[in-house]
Amino acid sequence: MTSAADTSELAAFAPSPEFTATANAGPELQAAADEDRLAFWATQAERLHWHTPFTEVLDFSDAPVAKWFVGGELNVAYNCVDRHVLAGNGDRVAIHFEGEPGDTRDLTYNDLLTEVRKAANTFTDLGLVAGDRVAIYMPMIPEAIVTMLACARLGLTHSVVFAGFSAAALRSRIDDAEAKLVVTVDGQWRRGQAAPLKPAVDEAVDGAASVKHVLVVKRTGIDVAVTDGRDLWWHETVDKASGTHQATPFDSEHPLFILYTSGTTGKPKGIIHTSGGYLTQASYTHHNVFDHKAGQDVYWCTADIGWVTGHSYIVYGPLSNGVTQVVYEGTPNSPDEHRHFQIIEKYGVSIYYTAPTLVRTFMKWGRDIPDAHDLTSIRLLGSVGEPINPEAWKWFREVIGGNQAPIVDTWWQTETGAIMISPLPGITATKPGSAMAPLPGISAKIVDDDANELGAGGSGYLVLDKPWPAMLRGIWGDMDRYRDTYWSRYPEQGWYFAGDGAKYDEDGALWVLGRVDDVMNVSGHRISTSEVESALVGHHGVAEAAVVGAADETTGQGIVAFVILREGVENTGDTLIAELKAEVSREISPIAKPRQITIVPELPKTRSGKIMRRLLKDIAEGRDLGDTSTLVNPTVFDTTVFDTIRRP
Ligand code: WTA
Repeated sequence: MTSAADTSELAAFAPSPEFTATANAGPELQAAADEDRLAFWATQAERLHWHTPFTEVLDFSDAPVAKWFVGGELNVAYNCVDRHVLAGNGDRVAIHFEGEPGDTRDLTYNDLLTEVRKAANTFTDLGLVAGDRVAIYMPMIPEAIVTMLACARLGLTHSVVFAGFSAAALRSRIDDAEAKLVVTVDGQWRRGQAAPLKPAVDEAVDGAASVKHVLVVKRTGIDVAVTDGRDLWWHETVDKASGTHQATPFDSEHPLFILYTSGTTGKPKGIIHTSGGYLTQASYTHHNVFDHKAGQDVYWCTADIGWVTGHSYIVYGPLSNGVTQVVYEGTPNSPDEHRHFQIIEKYGVSIYYTAPTLVRTFMKWGRDIPDAHDLTSIRLLGSVGEPINPEAWKWFREVIGGNQAPIVDTWWQTETGAIMISPLPGITATKPGSAMAPLPGISAKIVDDDANELGAGGSGYLVLDKPWPAMLRGIWGDMDRYRDTYWSRYPEQGWYFAGDGAKYDEDGALWVLGRVDDVMNVSGHRISTSEVESALVGHHGVAEAAVVGAADETTGQGIVAFVILREGVENTGDTLIAELKAEVSREISPIAKPRQITIVPELPKTRSGKIMRRLLKDIAEGRDLGDTSTLVNPTVFDTTVFDTIRRP
């Protein structure tokens, strides 16, 4: 891209004067952050209600474990619910719930408060006390959000497990956090069918020593087994509980949630987030990046609460700001591809935050579908989860954003807790595909292997060189892994290594290029290669497996696996491949199922025995192989199997 093209592009996507005139974020934010970063964050913390004021903004003496807003006490749920009721906004709709079969339910802040109080009373009756862990395995229904908030209200640490994960994945997360309670549903609606969920929980908790109770919301009415003494129905407990409950404050550093995410090794990491700093940054970013105006906007983040985007931009950020938001249970093509656009039209959605993979799917379906709807309510669009390609960016803006809505391409991670790099919609002239710059108060650098900072035109690793309020506080039960994973790459500098590659273009705009480690990004979901490899090796027929992420037009990356069979195991072709895919679904989730599995006689290895993934990726993406001379078995590529993959 030449400089001249960049400049005209910047002019093309500059904020309109009308947008700027009413934007929440003005240039004073950056000025204040530049002048005194910690004082800036102290000001942002005033967005929240503190039962006890903090005495120190940041204590990083125990680095890399930070303490933010030291000495402060607050109740996260009080900030997300009670506060709005007390301010006289109890009648405002908090959640427009749209069930997949078409059932709907509006919950006002008054309703939400009553529900959260009832759930909190029920959890207390079950003997749970602050610090206990609760696993949540639920689809996108209001009770899932109520459960998270009830946990926050009582100082219980929740661990939401995406309802698309398998029983085995749920079990390992329950065990790791020693959860005492699991909250779930009988089943969930998926493409017009009631898909059972409770049986997966029964399988997961069988023999799980920590679990005392399973609380079940009746969502679909399908028949499920009930274990006496352990299982309880939501409608027989929560619905009948008292709606009175006083929120008590917790320390700013009280653990709010654990969220498991994939790393470079097989075992998922339980990322720990705490209260005051996390909520401050979630609230600040939601207000400024989305330009959210309480009482006016209708906001819709299409994520699932099973991911961090659902935590920070459906639950904590938006509700702390008194949002009115849409929560939709189902898939975008149920009953047909019009669903999202019908919902936007029906509720007058003004802020729409989604993932590039969905934008590309909409593009594939064709613009006739969105064009059949009145989308003029939309005034801002957001993107998250993976780099958004310029073509999808432009389509998103033109077709969904009526050629006028600013797009905020937000870079962040489960670990960062909240948005870190993004345009500010009233200020930043954007470039399609670039996340542009760190937000005021956030510091990021692009550096090379030797910790040299790169400038315009430079390409290297993305690091966060200063602590931020919503940063993770560790990995549950494994603080060594925390130090090792994120802080050991640049130990002298004390930088956080994000695992992403990035570059500055000639104008200094920041482009995130994708993971530089063995983490794949499939439809915005993080999946580690070794997690899938160990699931494959779990199959009795498999001796060895190598997995790579290959470029995919719709999903960003697709999972491609190469498998060596054990001696004497018969290659039954499609039958075996189907079995292997099922094994991955069972061990992890259908989202981790390889797009392609190829049985091979050998894998390319270096002399030290390391599988050369780079070569496998080249093969999977149909590229010519470069220098293979360092392979111990260079002839591996001569075999016909590899040849067919190379030239499909
Ligand atoms: C990628 C999701 C480019 C990145 C919030 C990161 C992005 C990983 C963007 C975190 C973006 C997320 N542009 N890449 N706007 N947003 N990523 O933990 O590789 O599920 O490291 O958090 O997604 O994924 P996670």
